[in-house]
Amino acid sequence: MTTMESLIGLVNRIQRACTMLGDYGGGADGALPTLWEALPSVAVVGGQSSGKSSVLESVVGRDFLPRGSGRVTLRSIGIVTRRPLVLQLHKTEEGKPEYAEFLHLPKRIFTDFSLVRKEIQDETDRLTGKTKQISPVPIHLSIYSPFGHWRWFGWPVVARLTNLGNLQWMKFMAAAKVVDLASACTVEGWRRRQLLAMAGVVNLTLIDLPGLTKVAVEGQPDNIVQDIENMVRSYVEKNIIEPEPNINGLDTYHTCRSALVTITVFPFSFMPNCIILAITPANQDIATSDAIKLAREVDPTGERTFGVLTKLDLMDKGTHALDVLEGKAYKLQHPWVGIVNRSQADINKNVDMIIARRKEKEYFANSLDYSHLASKMGSEYLAKLLSKHLESVIRARIPSITSLINKTIDELESEMDNLGRPIAVDAGAQLYTILELCRAFDKIFKEHLDGGRPGGDR
Ligand code: GDP
Ligand code: NA
Ligand code: MG
Repeated sequence: MTTMESLIGLVNRIQRACTMLGDYGGGADGALPTLWEALPSVAVVGGQSSGKSSVLESVVGRDFLPRGSGRVTLRSIGIVTRRPLVLQLHKTEEGKPEYAEFLHLPKRIFTDFSLVRKEIQDETDRLTGKTKQISPVPIHLSIYSPFGHWRWFGWPVVARLTNLGNLQWMKFMAAAKVVDLASACTVEGWRRRQLLAMAGVVNLTLIDLPGLTKVAVEGQPDNIVQDIENMVRSYVEKNIIEPEPNINGLDTYHTCRSALVTITVFPFSFMPNCIILAITPANQDIATSDAIKLAREVDPTGERTFGVLTKLDLMDKGTHALDVLEGKAYKLQHPWVGIVNRSQADINKNVDMIIARRKEKEYFANSLDYSHLASKMGSEYLAKLLSKHLESVIRARIPSITSLINKTIDELESEMDNLGRPIAVDAGAQLYTILELCRAFDKIFKEHLDGGRPGGDR
């Protein structure tokens, strides 16, 4: 048998062992959610029509969310986003087409992003009807892209920073059940897949939320104001650890497969401590900002709040927002970022993202009021700022993530000792098997590489 064949055989055995291990290695109380909890997501919070969906799209650099419209419909009263949208960004290989996938439609691949927008609307209506009702049940959407849109986000930064050894990594992935081990089994593909797998675990999650409101409109129940606030708060509050109830027949977590890796999608409740993009329109008094009010409540120190001032272009002539943007009116720990999103007219004319970004840059560069701040304004700058922040958050958590991974391995070891190296087919035996197989895998793999260290270049 060649080394490669024995390697593949081992991988298959590891996979089988992992399958038999069932929920033992993961799940609500397992190690993986703990890892997830350590990693932040990003949510937009603000009043209706403040520009939340627009900001999210600008940051992602992709145009696919239902947004306000000028027509006198539901949308014109600002209730476009009526269910939370949990958006996960996955980086795929260069040269592969960009596509999107919904959790509720796992077999359908979307390459036309206007259809993504339509599906978000349809799926919202499926639960709420074509009404003004709001539902807390999230829609999960994944976007797979080889493009540079989210290169800013520096993923998968953890892979670089944690400096995981192969054996640890294999064991961790085996326990987490996230990587298709067989697909990792070519020397060529190893490094890439290792990174891809990591990107699958540590992808970026962005959450679009319905807008906060002060009064119920015609057709909405009276308690909707409080309901929306509670829902938004539940997404951005610290330490939410309760698993999401089984709604819509969805499992607590759900696995969707891509060509290269198996990605486990966890519900939002495993991703607390999220970064808050507090969206306030500049043509409204900052003192009345719903976003700032709520952000201050859930994040009193402001360490995870980014103040975003939209609609600078819509301010009354002769007025400006320098006191806010310079941090004088309302000081936040992070700097305020001013944004000019596409106007409704731009959206109606289908002005694309790239052009909108260029126009935004020109707006700041040519503005008499803001040109001195131009390099620190705009959606591209916001994306970079977020990326830097996420990286620093992760960097700060590397020791605990590493110790978590090590602890998991230590626990496996002591588990085996406690069980006296069992041979029975039970969880302990399975853990033992996996550990042994991983060890063997590591050994053969290293031999196969002839002394080369896979994934060793960091
Ligand atoms: P959301 O309800 O907070 O998600 O707000 P949307 O992103 O749906 O935007 C509501 C409306 O405001 C849309 O018609 C947008 O085109 C418009 N809008 C958002 N941001 C800006 C901006 O910075 N400038 C202008 N002129 N219009 C904006
Ligand atoms: Na809204
Ligand atoms: Mg919206």
